[in-house]
Amino acid sequence: MTQGKVSGVVANLVTVEVDGPVAQNEICYIDVGGVSLMAEVIRILGSSAHVQVFESTRGLKVGSSVEFSGHMLEIDLGPGILSRKYDGLQNDLEKMSGIFLARGTRVDALDADRPFDFRPLVKSGDEVQAGDWLGEVKENWIDHKIMVPFALEGSWAVSEIRSGSLCVDEPVATLRNARGESRPVTMRQKWPIKKAIQAFTERPRPYRLLETGIRVIDTLNPLVEGGTGFIPGPFGCGKTVLQHAMSKNAHADLIIITACGERANEVVEIFKEFPHLDDPRTGRKLMERTTIICNTSNMPVAAREASVYTGMTIAEYYRAMGLRVLLLADSTSRWAQALREMSNRLEELPGPDAFPMDLSAIISNFYSRAGYVRLRNGQTGSVTFVGTVSPAGGNLKEPVTESTRKAARAFYALSQGRADARRYPAIDPLDSYSKYLEYPEFVEYMGQELRPDWTAMVTEARDILRQGQDAYAQINILGDDSVPLEYHEVYWKGEMIDFVILQQDAFDAVDASTPLSRQKFMLELLLAITRLRFSWSGFEAIGNYYKKLINILKQMNYAVTDSPEFATYLDRLRQMLREESGQDLAADWPGANV
Ligand SMILES: Nc1ncnc2c1ncn2[C@@H]1O[C@H](COP(=O)(O)OP(=O)(O)O)[C@@H](O)[C@H]1O
Ligand SMILES: [Mg+2]
Repeated sequence: MTQGKVSGVVANLVTVEVDGPVAQNEICYIDVGGVSLMAEVIRILGSSAHVQVFESTRGLKVGSSVEFSGHMLEIDLGPGILSRKYDGLQNDLEKMSGIFLARGTRVDALDADRPFDFRPLVKSGDEVQAGDWLGEVKENWIDHKIMVPFALEGSWAVSEIRSGSLCVDEPVATLRNARGESRPVTMRQKWPIKKAIQAFTERPRPYRLLETGIRVIDTLNPLVEGGTGFIPGPFGCGKTVLQHAMSKNAHADLIIITACGERANEVVEIFKEFPHLDDPRTGRKLMERTTIICNTSNMPVAAREASVYTGMTIAEYYRAMGLRVLLLADSTSRWAQALREMSNRLEELPGPDAFPMDLSAIISNFYSRAGYVRLRNGQTGSVTFVGTVSPAGGNLKEPVTESTRKAARAFYALSQGRADARRYPAIDPLDSYSKYLEYPEFVEYMGQELRPDWTAMVTEARDILRQGQDAYAQINILGDDSVPLEYHEVYWKGEMIDFVILQQDAFDAVDASTPLSRQKFMLELLLAITRLRFSWSGFEAIGNYYKKLINILKQMNYAVTDSPEFATYLDRLRQMLREESGQDLAADWPGANV
């Protein structure tokens, strides 16, 4: 292996003179008085390599010896990843004393001594390739597939397969190829985090709704299994609360959270909060199907950069088992800042706001690892990725937001105005969008799942919100009395959709998550109301009437589906509408199926 000597140190950027070949992103270890510090090659110039050190470089001197490893930054994949909390380099934070890892120590990401009951899914003589399922073990309640290592090339025959209680480093199978090479396979495999795992045959465009239970997302700006979304918003607007709501309620099999906290205590809060959360979908603990990757504030920027890749690699690993994985990163701006710091230390030609010139490409590459895939056995899996972005000063034109906008398909803009008005979640309905609404596959899917004209109804609701805002602007300029009554009416229709669909109480047991069938019902109901014709006596009458309607509708949001309360509110609503409009909603009653 190539050796080297340190020739310069600038904070975490170290220059090494090397005696042989080194590769971009290769890992090396720098010896500091017997402690070995892990670092990654980020630039090579002739016989010097610039490396970023993942730990504090305190005491590091010119002349220290360096050993190159021949491989990129890798993590361990195998059963036992769920329920863990790792740092960006996959050190198990629970195995460390306190939250700080002593310099130069690395902790096993898996549990080498923990036995798993291995059930084979292939038999001797079967032909297999990288990513194929050899067997499975129970990891919490997930069927964790043990796969042919992703790095293995070509076709192999199973020459031996075991079953029963085995630990992660014991061979579960032996494979042989046409050249007569033989290879044992254990439940642990390693994979370089900056390379996407490609163990699939096809990547169809995603089209299946990923239900989150959040109405402003599912109904108006849907996310799909294998899709991408991002949440930009100023500090304190609810990015973290929104991501947590998604992690609790989304119809995903697994949740991977990468937390690069904006505030110092945020990471500690996650640590304290998550283990206690109940999983509303299984009645068990949410943590059983969650892995948290988190950065502590004392970690150098390089480790922060690694964490998003570690999260993505774990997500891809479980996707190859045919699972639906939701990967959340909070906040990706922290990651971009890490890239900026290293780029500046390397004295690279800076791009806008001193971010690296290739920031857009880095972000796009990362987002493109999410996706919906078909495996060799015909099953499908997905990685859905949602990142938050914290634009400095709330400026959505800054480079990280702009670059992310190009990469992500759904955009959830959190607005300061809505947060100030306590209209939570503060997603701006008009600035936000989901490109999936334009995918013919998605339109067809929703048409089958809900009703043929579903996406047309969504467009109608969005139009009403827009018209409502325009009317509001006119009323503000011209005054209540000087605009036609229709302006007031359309304004209140918009308010009704805002209060009843967009606003949702993340902290109420019922309202926190709305099943899709109920979201469908509410949209049908609200649109049916907007189609009724009333004759108003004045603008005050419109406001008063809609306030009463909104009040009943909001109570419905808090009532358990199909409960007597729910039915009572519905009856009251119907009666109110009949009295005022003289029309009966019953003929076209959308609630017949509730
Ligand atoms: N959906 C919500 N419902 C109620 N309160 C909310 C909601 N979202 C945010 N908040 C309030 O706003 C505060 C800040 O939210 P947070 O997610 O930490 O902001 P950010 O991550 O954007 O800085 C929360 O502590 C909470 O009081
Ligand atoms: Mg936050």
